[in-house]
Amino acid sequence: MRRAVIAGTGSALPKRCVTNAELAETVETSDEWIVERTGIRQRYVAGEGETTGTLAADAARAALEAAGVAAADVGLIVLATATPDQTFPSTATKVQAMLGIDDCVAFDVQAVCSGFLYALTVADGMMRSGTADVALVIGSETFSRILDWEDRGTCVLFGDGAGAVVLRAEDGPTDPTVARGILATKLHADGRHNELLYVDGGPSTTGTVGKLRMKGREVFRHAVVNLATVLGETMAAAGLDPADIDWLIPHQANARILEATAKKLGLSPERVVVTVDRHANTSAASVPLALDEAVRDGRVRPGQLLVLEAMGGGFTWGAAAVRL
Ligand code: UT7
Repeated sequence: MRRAVIAGTGSALPKRCVTNAELAETVETSDEWIVERTGIRQRYVAGEGETTGTLAADAARAALEAAGVAAADVGLIVLATATPDQTFPSTATKVQAMLGIDDCVAFDVQAVCSGFLYALTVADGMMRSGTADVALVIGSETFSRILDWEDRGTCVLFGDGAGAVVLRAEDGPTDPTVARGILATKLHADGRHNELLYVDGGPSTTGTVGKLRMKGREVFRHAVVNLATVLGETMAAAGLDPADIDWLIPHQANARILEATAKKLGLSPERVVVTVDRHANTSAASVPLALDEAVRDGRVRPGQLLVLEAMGGGFTWGAAAVRL
């Protein structure tokens, strides 16, 4: 059976790290409040010359190197972002040019924090149907550029960064208990919740980029319920039991959401990869950033079953069961 297998991972963070204490100098907040409510201690913020595109290209180069794949062999780039370098063309085509790839399929996917799960699902489908044998799936964001730095309810929560995976199409066994690669994905969207998490600008409405607005408490409530449901659906679609999960690689929005999700799955907290304390919420980049960290420090190993999940603006949410 032809499946998309993760052949390598990579990530990139901006140079500048901003602590909670530094933010408390400009907005009425405290390290204590941020840590207690979110688990966040610091975040990275893009500086001059650092963009969604440059971070994505750095993450992609690291993933290609880890996979031992030449850029010229990439047939598909799917880049998830809500903060593209330009309204158009896609940031994926900018990354393509930065990597020196003359011709391939390249486009962006916009599903905010669930973007990486959407991009992975799209790439998986295209690889199964034969569009490409090697793909780069990237999540990259510079949310610092759409934050209202005077709104303490949102500006403390987000950070910038990028993560990438190289997917390679491989023939393998059908049995999901041994097969490598993307075993199942599930995606959802419910557009009725636009006003709970959105940006108050856009090319076709205000002609401006706009700033992020969020009713955090409501988003939190939906996140816990939706994530538990989609994780159950994904495991059922893969033909696997939640007890089989080796690692949960969740979207990193709030440490309390991670704890609640793990509890609902009956998964011990040691099986959850947590980066929210150091990266904050990097939207579409958070899942591949967490994945790359856990691969590189040796926690996540070949043959293990990973479950990736995310929920974000739209609302959109989704999950993927992947054996490394
Ligand atoms: O990535 C997409 C998905 N996003 C999420 O999943 C985010 C989900 N939401 C959350 O993570 C949490 O709801 C927040 C971290 C955003 C907020 O935590 P909360 O426990 O739900 O707090 P709250 O919004 O109910 O606010 C409690 C209080 C409020 O004061 P009053 O009205 O009770 O007097 C806020 O004004 O905390 C105040 N507050 C702050 N205080 C100090 C809000 N932000 C801050 C701040 N520092 N930065």
